Amino acid sequence: MEPRTAPRPRRITARAAPVAAALLLVAGCSGVGVEGTPGAAGLRDPYFPKLGNGGYDVRHYALNIAYDPRTRRIEATADITAAATQNLSAFNLDLAGLTVRSAAVDGATASYRRAGKELTVRPREELGKGTVFRTRLVYAGVPETITDPDGSEEGWLPTADGALAVGEPTGSMAWFPGNHHPSDKATYTVTLSVPAGLKAVSNGRLVSERTANGRTTAVWNAPEPMASYLATVAIGAYRTTTGTVRAGKPADAPAVPVLSVIDPAAADAEADGLLARIPELLDWEAENFGPYPFSAAGAIVDRPGDLGYALETQTRPVFPRTAFDAPTLVHELAHQWYGNSVTPETWRDMWLNEGFATYAEWLYAEDFEDVPAQDSFTEAFDDDANWAFPPADPPEAENISDAPVYGRGAMVLHKVRQAVGDDAFFEILRGWPAKYRYANASTDDFTAYVEDVAGEDAQDDLDEVWDVWLYGDGKPDGP
Ligand code: TRP
Ligand code: ZN
Repeated sequence: MEPRTAPRPRRITARAAPVAAALLLVAGCSGVGVEGTPGAAGLRDPYFPKLGNGGYDVRHYALNIAYDPRTRRIEATADITAAATQNLSAFNLDLAGLTVRSAAVDGATASYRRAGKELTVRPREELGKGTVFRTRLVYAGVPETITDPDGSEEGWLPTADGALAVGEPTGSMAWFPGNHHPSDKATYTVTLSVPAGLKAVSNGRLVSERTANGRTTAVWNAPEPMASYLATVAIGAYRTTTGTVRAGKPADAPAVPVLSVIDPAAADAEADGLLARIPELLDWEAENFGPYPFSAAGAIVDRPGDLGYALETQTRPVFPRTAFDAPTLVHELAHQWYGNSVTPETWRDMWLNEGFATYAEWLYAEDFEDVPAQDSFTEAFDDDANWAFPPADPPEAENISDAPVYGRGAMVLHKVRQAVGDDAFFEILRGWPAKYRYANASTDDFTAYVEDVAGEDAQDDLDEVWDVWLYGDGKPDGP
């Protein structure tokens, strides 16, 4: 350590003095017992350290977005209800692009500042720990399409007749300011205004839809907690199909409405046939995974040919026509339990999403196509792409959607099945999303849960599953 008497560079002394004075001033004026400090600018995710923000916990997003497909601009308001988790002098939101026009906290104008993807809001008065406060941000502009570390596109994607918003892992900050880390889940109300003739769709249930003065306004409500990467908006000249499903809901609960939209350019007999299977597949998954966790279901089929991947957006997964087949549908619907209801604590826990969703495909092959999961396992084992790294530890952000996260993740689950037996395994498939319903969980939570269900007898086998299959480098000698 530097001795206290060492001469200090003048620059530091000059800066330190006003800061200290300002802190004293704040402490003197504020009614809060402990002086407030700014919330952290990131949550230190292992892959996206600046994603998300500290110091508060969002409860609800009320987003109001008007879209003009001709100019591709949005005019928007976000009302964000959050609880302070510390005494807060300022807090950050993640927002990429767009122009912020005004900020207010609890109705009082607040100052704000932008630096890269961080928007810092400073309320006029400090927010004491535990306070529930509402931030209103008025913003506008042409939302960005974001290119991910792995080269795929997300964020806001203009389409021939509208737009599509997909947000895994970081794209939702392209269309609304928020706490964009999967650990801060919240409920949503999304109000969309589009030119009459177009449909505007989001997560959850359609609350109202009216057309006046040449514009249609649709209000969507997602009443169960949702990670922001699962939020979606789809605008286009869609065809709509509707239905209902019970999906394991108790007899006294209302049936779940199923609402799907399909871009006519993406529609054909096969796509229509797949959409029609959603209730049947949700019923089948509910038998295996437990009651469907949400109060709405459906799908969005859009962007023929160019998105390249499907996404499990909550209640209403997105499919480009090119990635819309039965196993993909089974996969995205399985994410409603694994990923959406129980959500990864950080992006390192991604295999908990993709391993389970891939295993759902193996179960589908077992039940519908007479292909034992053991055969799917062997096929995955023989695929070199699955051995690049252990599923619980992708080397870089660009690897979180690579083959080992999916195929080797599913292999881990199959090894668990072998170690604990079918009865305990299917108990785990149902119990895991039940225990962490609407919450977050980590890989450690998962291994602890499995050990709990399996009991002492399986302990040695499970230790090996974790050491070799979940965390181990390289390919074991034999399956
Ligand atoms: N989660 C999607 C799926 O399997 C795939 C995906 C799309 C993805 N974008 C991603 C995975 C970004 C990780 C990161 O169904
Ligand atoms: Zn997936």
